[in-house]
Amino acid sequence: MNLTSTPESSLTGSVSCPGDKSISQRVLMISSLINEPIKIKGFLDGEDPLSTMHALNQMGAEIEIHPKNVIQVKKSPTGFVEPIDPLDLGNSGTGLRLMLGMIAGLGIKTMFKGDRSLSQRPMNRVLNPLSAMGADITSDNGMLPIALNKSVLDDDFVYELPVASAQVKSCILLAGLAAEKTVTIIEPIQTRDHTERMLKNFGANITIAQKDSKNIICLAGKASLKAMDYQVVGDISSAAFLIVGALISQSEELEICGVGMNPSRIGILSVLRDMGARIEIKNAREESGEPIADLIVLPSKLSGVILDGSIIPNIIDEIPILSIAAAFAEGETIIRDAAELRVKESDRLKAISDGLLNLGISHINFDDGIKIKGNPRLLDLPGPVQIDSYDDHRIAMSFLIAGLNCNQPITVLECDNIFTSFPTFLELTASLGYEIKK
Ligand code: S3P
Repeated sequence: MNLTSTPESSLTGSVSCPGDKSISQRVLMISSLINEPIKIKGFLDGEDPLSTMHALNQMGAEIEIHPKNVIQVKKSPTGFVEPIDPLDLGNSGTGLRLMLGMIAGLGIKTMFKGDRSLSQRPMNRVLNPLSAMGADITSDNGMLPIALNKSVLDDDFVYELPVASAQVKSCILLAGLAAEKTVTIIEPIQTRDHTERMLKNFGANITIAQKDSKNIICLAGKASLKAMDYQVVGDISSAAFLIVGALISQSEELEICGVGMNPSRIGILSVLRDMGARIEIKNAREESGEPIADLIVLPSKLSGVILDGSIIPNIIDEIPILSIAAAFAEGETIIRDAAELRVKESDRLKAISDGLLNLGISHINFDDGIKIKGNPRLLDLPGPVQIDSYDDHRIAMSFLIAGLNCNQPITVLECDNIFTSFPTFLELTASLGYEIKK
């Protein structure tokens, strides 16, 4: 599916933020491990959480999706069983890496597969620690297809994360949880902490301490988790597209209700505020152990910014859309220490650069980042432009948002993967006055 922007548009009005993808995936796994009736509201019915749901059901879980983003987890009479077919995690790195941990902990023989993009992504970052814990794993050189064989994990596993990755951290936590073994993770740079919060919310014995400016996360084995209903907060990574869209198009006022405000995810807001954005936070509250609020985005004048170091893991999924904000900001933006972007759903640094090149936006590439020379004015293009999404949802949405502030239509190729994380993107943008055509 190719999608085409309507030139010189804006995003004005009020919408509810779609559910958080990271949290939707985690709550499915943790509640099926609890294996008691649990109702989940605000679930993201995107393809990534749905592939995780199907994989869990293939293993004997009983998870049903109901209208209005409600999930009912039922008590499974069998508990987890060996799946007959390989589990297909589609496009989802989170689904695959977290399920690998959980199933290694359960010690069940399982095969895993995924789509073309997932099959090219590095999995040794989770296979190495899982093997060190005692899991018996075979893979194609650290990539899919992957087979887990029956094995029993060691107790008291201690691991220092060599890469700032919430997926690796969560993989090990879920392995310990499912195996009922104690795990300690040393995290040098803070990454999103949804797994820790959710485990605490469901009653796990998890402690987080700071030593030498590192997080020491310890999950005790034999946790007796309590079944309780769960409310998924909105996904700030999805809200980010609308926020930047409103800012670059000088839209009058945009309200996004129910946005997750976890401190390990809201780097995007502090970066945009540093760039000059006027974003108001209202009705701050908490749902299921996660902070949440409503955001108001007001017309603002953006200028360039320098982004590097420990902020990067906090904004890792927002760098594509921040690059669009940078393209329409006064002056230069420099992004460094972001080499992880090369192993996301696509090589995002290359995809950003190629798209900016097609729009004629001046930039310099680095191995670990990009320098973008911005200009806040409406982009004056000589004719319609085509941009390759590299089959990557965040690249596709970023360049469709760039189209708001162009004088010509922008066609982004192969946008189907938008459904992995933001299935209502076209409806929500249309409801705010921005028509994106198929
Ligand atoms: C995620 C962690 C991040 C992020 C991804 C979701 C998660 O990946 O980019 O979209 O749900 O834990 P890494 O752990 O690879 O940094």
